[in-house]
Amino acid sequence: MDSVTKRYPDGTVAVDRLSLEIPDRTITVLVGPSGCGKTTTLRMINRMVEPSEGTILVDGVDVQKQPVNTLRRSMGYVIQNAGLFQHRTIADNIATVPRLLGWSKQKARARAEELMERVGLDSSLAKRYPYQLSGGQQQRVGVARALAADPPVLLMDEPFSAVDPVVRKGLQEELLRIQGELGKTIIFVTHDIDEAIRLGTKVAVMRTGGRLAQFAEPAELLSAPADAFVEDFLGEGRGVRRLSFFPSEGLDLLTEPVVADGATAEQTAAAREASGAPYLLVTDGEGKPLGWSEPGSLPGGSPEELLPYGRPFVAGQDSLRVALDCAVLSPTGWAVAVDGTGRVVGVVSQETIGEAIRGAHAAGRKADGAGRKADVAG
Ligand SMILES: Nc1ncnc2c1ncn2[C@@H]1O[C@H](COP(=O)(O)OP(=O)(O)OP(=O)(O)O)[C@@H](O)[C@H]1O
Ligand SMILES: [Mg+2]
Repeated sequence: MDSVTKRYPDGTVAVDRLSLEIPDRTITVLVGPSGCGKTTTLRMINRMVEPSEGTILVDGVDVQKQPVNTLRRSMGYVIQNAGLFQHRTIADNIATVPRLLGWSKQKARARAEELMERVGLDSSLAKRYPYQLSGGQQQRVGVARALAADPPVLLMDEPFSAVDPVVRKGLQEELLRIQGELGKTIIFVTHDIDEAIRLGTKVAVMRTGGRLAQFAEPAELLSAPADAFVEDFLGEGRGVRRLSFFPSEGLDLLTEPVVADGATAEQTAAAREASGAPYLLVTDGEGKPLGWSEPGSLPGGSPEELLPYGRPFVAGQDSLRVALDCAVLSPTGWAVAVDGTGRVVGVVSQETIGEAIRGAHAAGRKADGAGRKADVAG
């Protein structure tokens, strides 16, 4: 999008000289407060709204120079509440565009079935009508319908905002999976910053008046908001959210304070001595955590004498945010690290996690500095 402006007939400037380079085969999120011009921007891409000034190119071709029908066929469109045809079955809803394109009934039906599976809908729902589906299921149908003719581009306007947080998270994961499998170029509108950060490869933050405030990768948005507006929009917890982008890989895990259930008094004493840690983590025969043994007590007591170990994190796989969360929730202030199968690989204190966070921030600052220098040089 090159310096695109939309002035509605009543004089409202919905989008003001917006320039964006949207990368192929990734999810780009447009986020911003209500009325900042997100929907207008999206609709200018498929020409449901015509820009007043500026140009929009798709693969180098000006959308104004393409027949509207060809253009729209190359772009699936998903909106809030799915926008399904209420008098058509689920299968027919999904097959709408293929049928318009002249596919046979049989081929269109086969495509609908394939897509239902892809978006996680049971095939038994094919003959139902939209009102017989939950909100989350209807959204899945909306996504399937948009994918039906296999368009390279998907435009999604707050598609998940009408469902509860749990369903929403499921739909987001599904979208990331579908994107990974199909490699579509997705432009996704939301006013939820958490959704933007979770889904976006790049995120465009817009401000009221239809102007771009910042266009960056989520990690950069969190670490270096362009101005007070973006910072305010990112809200509280920006620092903690940023930890999601730091891996737990380099954390210094201790194995000394981990003892097997039934360890002898000597072994326990040795473990306390060697680790210097006040609590010992007791594991079962398979190496899975049972709980924390308090200072002075013997492991091997009944499980109710152990303090709960809380929620462990998966070493190397989970982020520092998850590791910190485990440590904060743990009654001992120590987090339990497990491998993919749930076996304990070590424990780590809040202090050690704190050091890792400081280290990651310092490394980030160095990288930012190098980036800036490279930019100047370039
Ligand atoms: N047809 C129209 N005529 C006049 N003004 C319009 C029209 N459509 C939208 N607007 C105005 O343009 C601005 C941007 O609207 P738009 O729908 O693009 O915002 P949005 O970011 O999608 O908001 P929301 O988050 O509430 O969906 C708003 O001030 C809106 O009132
Ligand atoms: Mg909107």
